[in-house]
Amino acid sequence: MHRFTSRGLAPACLAIAASFAVAAGASAQGSGKIKVGFMLPYTGTYASLGNAIENGFRMYVQEQGGKLGGREIEYFKVDDESDPAKAPENATKLIKRDQVDVVVGTVHSGVQMGIVKVAKENNTLLIIPNAGVDEATGPLCGPNIFRSSFSNWQPGYAMGHVLAERGMKKVVTLTWKYAAGEQSVKGFKEAFEARGGKVVKELSLPFPNVEFQALITEVASIKPDAVFVFFAGGGAVKFVKDWAAAGLKDKIPLYASGFLTDGTLEAQGAAAQGLETTLHYADGLANARDKRFRLDYAKTYKLQPDVYAVQGYDAAQLLAAGAGAVKGDMSRKAEVIKAMEVARVDSPRGAFTLSKAHNPVQDFYLRKVDGRENKPGGVAVKALADPARGCRL
Ligand code: PHB
Repeated sequence: MHRFTSRGLAPACLAIAASFAVAAGASAQGSGKIKVGFMLPYTGTYASLGNAIENGFRMYVQEQGGKLGGREIEYFKVDDESDPAKAPENATKLIKRDQVDVVVGTVHSGVQMGIVKVAKENNTLLIIPNAGVDEATGPLCGPNIFRSSFSNWQPGYAMGHVLAERGMKKVVTLTWKYAAGEQSVKGFKEAFEARGGKVVKELSLPFPNVEFQALITEVASIKPDAVFVFFAGGGAVKFVKDWAAAGLKDKIPLYASGFLTDGTLEAQGAAAQGLETTLHYADGLANARDKRFRLDYAKTYKLQPDVYAVQGYDAAQLLAAGAGAVKGDMSRKAEVIKAMEVARVDSPRGAFTLSKAHNPVQDFYLRKVDGRENKPGGVAVKALADPARGCRL
């Protein structure tokens, strides 16, 4: 009978122990894939927005040969359903169960609040590819929280500027009653009223309701100089059609943040023609970067890109800046963050940098719907930075 002696066993044990040590050491340096967790809406009124963000992100990674910082990317996905109540559990799944290196999410401001909280508790890197909730780059800002999109304040503020300059005096606002709508209106009001305008009535309905009729009638009864709205995705399609069907299209000027007409024009058709909005992207910007992006996106997905695709693409560019600085070793968090903070993102929207609170400082275009495009009609506000009130970084 063969018996293992302790002496005989020792070399084998050492060899095994050594191989574990190599594996552990290697993974501490991040030799594996970079794990990206998409937490996005894949169902509901914002489903197309979530898909465009993922498409844009993946396209950038593909352009880099499928690698960032020399590492392959492994994707995990959760459908957040634009439901704030499910946000903490969904974010925790990606962070604790899937152990992602970075969460990329989301679209809806209410859901975003839950993600920010969980990302802060776990010190997980977060890149927000849409949701504008002001708090994320305001009082809840943090070293690990980045945004590739906008704050809700920004596009509203840009439109407030435009309408005041056009001499409008009396405006009614209409939105879904949650952070995105409320904070857009706040930004609008701040710029508009500082320049002599007055918001005479703020109307709203719960998200994601689309029973607009009574509110449209109420707006008409007030006879304002203009109406400013925030709607997006499926709800925006319905609103624009209802507004036109009510016969108000040529009676009361309708203005909005650009989400009202982005990714929606095919479905809105004639009802959207001529609408003017403000946003950090437009169709047909005169830059070579955007032209290449649009061609590649159309070829890859057989779809026209929109602002959401751009924000997803730029979320990947931000991550690339961080991952590149540490050769893919995402455990070197402080260095990843530093590199992301100083990145100059070569975006299809035009190059941008981040504010101290990690929100893009960017131009806001005034756009006008013409056919299936939001054509740029100039810059409404140049290099607009969110005031980042309450952020201490
Ligand atoms: C948001 O909830 O922050 C939000 C959603 C959709 C948009 C823009 C902002 O298009």
